[in-house]
Amino acid sequence: MPQVYSAPFVVENVSLKQYNTFGIDVSARYFVEINHLQEYVQLIHEQKYAHIDHMFVGGGSNLLLTQDVNALVVKISFAGIEVLDESADFVWVRAGSGVNWHDFVQYAVDHQWAGIENLSLIPGTVGAAPMQNIGAYGVEIKDTFDHLEALNLETLLIERFDSEACQFGYRESYFKHAGKGRYLIASVCFKLAKKPTLHISYGAIKDVLTTNGIVNPGIREVADAVISIRKSKLPDPKDIGNSGSFFKNPTVSAAESIRLQHDFPGIPHYAVPESTDIKFPAGWCIEQAGWKGYRSGDAGVHVNQALVLVNYGQATGVEIKELSEQIKASVLAKFGVPLETEVNII
Ligand code: EPU
Repeated sequence: MPQVYSAPFVVENVSLKQYNTFGIDVSARYFVEINHLQEYVQLIHEQKYAHIDHMFVGGGSNLLLTQDVNALVVKISFAGIEVLDESADFVWVRAGSGVNWHDFVQYAVDHQWAGIENLSLIPGTVGAAPMQNIGAYGVEIKDTFDHLEALNLETLLIERFDSEACQFGYRESYFKHAGKGRYLIASVCFKLAKKPTLHISYGAIKDVLTTNGIVNPGIREVADAVISIRKSKLPDPKDIGNSGSFFKNPTVSAAESIRLQHDFPGIPHYAVPESTDIKFPAGWCIEQAGWKGYRSGDAGVHVNQALVLVNYGQATGVEIKELSEQIKASVLAKFGVPLETEVNII
C-alpha cells in the first residue's frame, strides 16, 4: 500500500536563530520542517500558503538574515543515504538533501569511498551543496557529482539534473541563476571512487600530514588533516556565528593581475583552470586593508581568517551587512578590485 503523508505542522512567528549559522534572531511568519517531499506537496495545496513566498533552508549556513521573513520558511530534513549502483571502481551514492554534509563525508570516508574527503567539515546540508558548488582544498563537488533530483515548483514534477544541466562554476550553479526559486532539491547522487586519487597539494594539507609523520596517507588521514586545518582557521558556528567565507575570491584579467602584482609585491595569486584570468585571495586583501580581527559591537572579522565575518552574539543582520559593505569599499579603494558576496543576503 502506498504511504500516506499528511500535511506537516506549520507554526507561526518562529525565531530563526537556530536555523541560520550566523545566529541572527529574526522571525519567520510561518515555519515548517518537512521530512518527505510528499509532505511539501500536501502543503502547497493548502490555500493559506498558496499566496505567500516559500523560502527553503537546509543548514542555514550560507545565509545572512537582515529582516523578519514574511514567508513560509521550509526547513528541508529529507534523510537517508543509499547506494544506487556499484562497479569495480566506483560507487553511486545518493543522499537526501537534509543529510548534514559533514556526516555524509564521514560516511563516505568510513566506507572508503573517495572524492569528497577534502570537503570535510563544511557546514550545511547535502541539498545545499550543489547550489553553490561547495569547494575547499582543491576539490569542488562538481568533481564527484553525478546527478540530483529536484521538484519543479511550477509543474510539481521531479526533474533529474546531470552535471552539465547544473552549470557548475566557482561557487556557482544554475540554481543561483536561471533556476533560482524554481526548484526544491530533494536528493543528490555522487560517483565516488573505490581507488582514491588524493588531492593533498593544496594549502596546508601536506604540512599537516608531514608534521603528523604520515607518509602514505589514505582518505581518512586526508579528511583528518582537513578537519584540523579548518578547526584552526575557521570559527565553529556553534561557538561564534558565521557563514564561512562571506565573499568570493575575485578573478581578474591577466593585465589587471600584472598591475596588482606590481603594486602589491607578494600578493598570492592562482591560475584559473581553462582561463587566462587570475584569482586573488580576498582574505589576504581584507587583511592587508586592516580588517582582520576588527570588531564593532558584536559584528566582526574573524581573527584567523579575514574572509569570514562573525557574530559574537547579538549582532543584527543589518550590522553584518553594513560591515561587509565597509570592507568592500575599503578593498576597492586600496586594490581597485570589487568583491562579490558569496553569502545569500535576505
Ligand atoms: N589569507 C591571508 N589572510 C587571511 C586569509 C587568507 O593572508 O585572513 C591568505 C592565505 O595565507 C593564503 C590565501 O589567502 O595565501 C588563501 O587562504 P585560504 O587557503 O585560507 O583560503 P581562502 O581562499 O581564503 C577558500 C574558500 C574556503 C575554503 C578555502 C580552502 C572561497 C570564497 N573560500 O578560502 O571556503 O575552505 O579556500 O580551500 O573560495 C567557504 O566557502 O565558506 C570556505 C570556507
